[in-house]
Amino acid sequence: MSKVTVVGAGNVGATVANVLAHKDVVNEVVLLDIKADLAKGKALDSWQQAPIDYYSTKIEGTGDYRKTKGSDIVVITAGIPRRPGMSRDDLISTNAKIVTSVTKSILKYTKNPIIIVVSNPLDVMTYAAHKVSGLDSSRVFGMAGVLDTARYRAFLSTELKISPKDFQAVLMGGHGDTMVPLPRYTTVAGIPVTELIDKDILKAIVQRTKVGGGELVKLMGTSAWYAPGAAAAQMVESIIRDENRIFPCCARLTGQYGLRNIFLGVPVKLGRNGIEQMLELKLNKTELRGLKKSAEHVKAVMKTFNKMKIV
Ligand code: NAI
Ligand code: 2OP
Repeated sequence: MSKVTVVGAGNVGATVANVLAHKDVVNEVVLLDIKADLAKGKALDSWQQAPIDYYSTKIEGTGDYRKTKGSDIVVITAGIPRRPGMSRDDLISTNAKIVTSVTKSILKYTKNPIIIVVSNPLDVMTYAAHKVSGLDSSRVFGMAGVLDTARYRAFLSTELKISPKDFQAVLMGGHGDTMVPLPRYTTVAGIPVTELIDKDILKAIVQRTKVGGGELVKLMGTSAWYAPGAAAAQMVESIIRDENRIFPCCARLTGQYGLRNIFLGVPVKLGRNGIEQMLELKLNKTELRGLKKSAEHVKAVMKTFNKMKIV
């Protein structure tokens, strides 16, 4: 029996629940929101899709944490999204309180869940959830890199007119404009992308990736949900099925890349116990400089969070 709770039944949370149900890899998904009826409605709608799309995963909507008891994995998407003109960091004063209170409520009914944070500002919200939970850092991590590399791969696919299925890529750093896509570690069906694409076009794609979230906020007036929801569901699948897939995730560094006590995007192996292994790449000077710059940015937002004295 496997059970996943998704907290926040908004755009991203409802998509995580729906995509996860389509994968048919867990027995039960609980979708929880302070707006209980919204959660109940979206869960019921998803369940009514089951006979059409052929899945057995039960989806229940609720506002009651008792229903989350015994969750293997909890995905936290609760919180406000950004609006045009806002950065992810502008969300901290509202979302820090939400993410810490959600984490505490979850732990009342499940002692040792795996927690995947999605709420922004992502790296610091993951840090906050880890700090308030007291769980091992292999069990608390964030979703950003799966989404950011998906954006990067989609842009490359459009440019090269090659199926998105054939792109593999790594991206590191914080979930913000300082993220570090890594062309040196990007391949197309095993071929280094640098052999297939003009240098300046690749540079422009890297830049578009870095501000990829903002591009969508400008278009829609709120942030994205299809790719973010699918990204979190893919991480859940790797854990539930003990697949040991490698994904860039926001994880706690303990000296890797010369960084410690910070949550930042790095490639990790996701299996039954959460982060089973962290891979340490041999970055060159420019890549490492980019990562350190991103870490400095995240540290500044961590400071703002610590000053709030919530935990
Ligand atoms: P949304 O506004 O559609 O949904 C948020 C939901 O959270 C709402 O239904 C709201 O009622 C609920 N909520 C608020 N406080 C709560 C609480 N204390 N307990 C339970 N539920 C609560 O927002 P959306 O678009 O789903 O985004 C959610 C978060 O995810 C935002 O912070 C956004 O910035 C972030 N995000 C992160 C991404 C990433 O790559 N890490 C990608 C996309 C969004
Ligand atoms: C995104 O990148 C807003 O973080 C969210 O779409």
